Amino acid sequence: MRNFSDEVIKKINPTKIRNFSIIAHIDHGKSTLADRLLEKTNLKGSNKSIERILDSLLPWRGITIKLNAVQLYHPPESLEPHIFNLIDTPGHVDFMYEVSRSLAACEGVLLLVDATKGIQAQTLAYYEIAKSLDLKILPIINKIDLPSAQLGSTKKQLIDLLACQENDICLISAKSGQNIDLLLNKIIEVIPAPIFQKGQLKALVFDLLYSRYYGVIVYLKIIEGELTKNQKIKFHQSQKIYQVERVGVKTPKEILKQQLTAGEIGWFTANIRDMREVKVGDTVFDTNNNSLPLEGYQEVKSNVYSNLYPTDTSQYKEFKKALEELQIQDSSLSLETIDSQLLGPGFRCGFLGLLHREIVCERVKKEYNCEIITTPPSVTYRIICSSGEILETNNPQKIPSKDKVKGIEELFILLNITTPEDYLGPISQLCQDKRGVFQSQEWKTGYLYNLIYHLPFAEFILDFHDKIKSISHGYASFSYQIIGFRSSNVVKIDILLNEQIIPDLSFLVYQQLAYERAKIICERLKETLNQQTFTVPIQACIGNQVIARETLPALKKHVTGNMYGGDRTRKMKLWSKQKKGQKIRKEYGKVNFDSGSLRRLLKGNK
Ligand code: GTP
Repeated sequence: MRNFSDEVIKKINPTKIRNFSIIAHIDHGKSTLADRLLEKTNLKGSNKSIERILDSLLPWRGITIKLNAVQLYHPPESLEPHIFNLIDTPGHVDFMYEVSRSLAACEGVLLLVDATKGIQAQTLAYYEIAKSLDLKILPIINKIDLPSAQLGSTKKQLIDLLACQENDICLISAKSGQNIDLLLNKIIEVIPAPIFQKGQLKALVFDLLYSRYYGVIVYLKIIEGELTKNQKIKFHQSQKIYQVERVGVKTPKEILKQQLTAGEIGWFTANIRDMREVKVGDTVFDTNNNSLPLEGYQEVKSNVYSNLYPTDTSQYKEFKKALEELQIQDSSLSLETIDSQLLGPGFRCGFLGLLHREIVCERVKKEYNCEIITTPPSVTYRIICSSGEILETNNPQKIPSKDKVKGIEELFILLNITTPEDYLGPISQLCQDKRGVFQSQEWKTGYLYNLIYHLPFAEFILDFHDKIKSISHGYASFSYQIIGFRSSNVVKIDILLNEQIIPDLSFLVYQQLAYERAKIICERLKETLNQQTFTVPIQACIGNQVIARETLPALKKHVTGNMYGGDRTRKMKLWSKQKKGQKIRKEYGKVNFDSGSLRRLLKGNK
């Protein structure tokens, strides 16, 4: 094999470029196929390791969370090879917008289906995005080496879904490498080359990485014109201007180039130190180019919020540094400093979704060695005040008292579920239990159906993911998008200990579920609180109305313990004195609800 030099890579013929992604359900063999493609197109000496290349790109619990693009050459020994830009996509609903932007950088997709399982839900969700972007679809059936492969029925599903011909489908074994050469040729034949458009620079940003040394690494597809070293460019959203320092491609080793031209996929750096100045989906222009930006950009907003505190307040400095550094690398993480009476200083953090929240918490713990406690996830509500003022907040503590609130609106999502027929009933029941409003049901292919519901986002983040996975044994998948606020019967619950509100424990809940949830939290508090020297009422209230109550009994001191026999009236006197003392302490006493108790209560928050 030739050892490619930059000179060769520079001589790229735009008609020989193929930009594509692999879309597949989990475990259908996406990473194995990517490895095989890389192996067949490997530039000798260019790759340190070709093992599991896609999964090595920031994997997290087996889910690729960070997109990336790798350039392959076919045949590798040719002087003017075909260039395959393989763009990876993350496999989680929290990142659907990023998936759509990376697919927007492609001309086609390889739709990979496991021959033993047939088309499954996640493939269908990605297929819908690819279809909406008008991408060319190359159907592939993988794992044909397995005796349990069901070629006939899987082919039929693909033909039904794509309205394609049987011989359009590639049959491969990514594991053994069978038919991979045929697939490489099919990619060239089916996936169109990008359109080569001359003119001033216009490019689509589809991924961002952060390097401590070079700042933001911007992955982009050049739509028009070219991007060259030292060129001045501007980002449409922030209108910030930068001078390009380094331009290149990834093979997966980073290779520097003088320029990227229309149709090409690559990266550049420009000493951009603030991740917030660059957005996925944004358009990069030449500074003189005043044409319209590319379509499809969306402002990425935090959807889920939690308070984060260091377990040990003396670790606050490290904790703050950790979150601030993570925010530099991840602009979708929002931070606001807070100070809790009980837990001390911390941050109210905004995340894209629950997985994103989990990833950030794990990174703070693992990469920065900082133990944290988190409050349960919450979402944004819109408060219509009696004064006419409208307030949007994700923090229950900021909601005015009941008498000042005219109404509360909650966020709704459009939930698109793909499920095998067998689970339609239980999943519909789950959606209804979660206050979902049925929209439509449609057969897709094989045994798969699409269900559409409008659902309160607060119900969704509670435990929807776990429940749908357990009901469908992992066979259903879903995507969602936020559709806006709707008036709802939501109430704020305050938790009182010895008649004092504990602000950290206030939460919002749908009125019909208020009693049930209030009761649970009162019971949990009773279990976790340290007993005091007086009886403590634990109350959950909506305004002034108590809706649940538990009583934490006083720590009993055996005041008559050292009396052996003796006069009963003396004992009675002591008991009555003890009771009086308890009453006084109760009146004036502040419950010693220390941070340890709250920590115990919040421990295990998911
Ligand atoms: P995620 O990264 O979890 O989404 O999975 P994936 O789609 O990347 O699947 P992966 O490549 O990890 O493959 C899943 C399993 O299927 C692995 O154990 C592979 O070895 C196996 N596998 C993949 N392709 C084939 C194949 O063609 N034949 C056989 N027999 N096994 C395969």
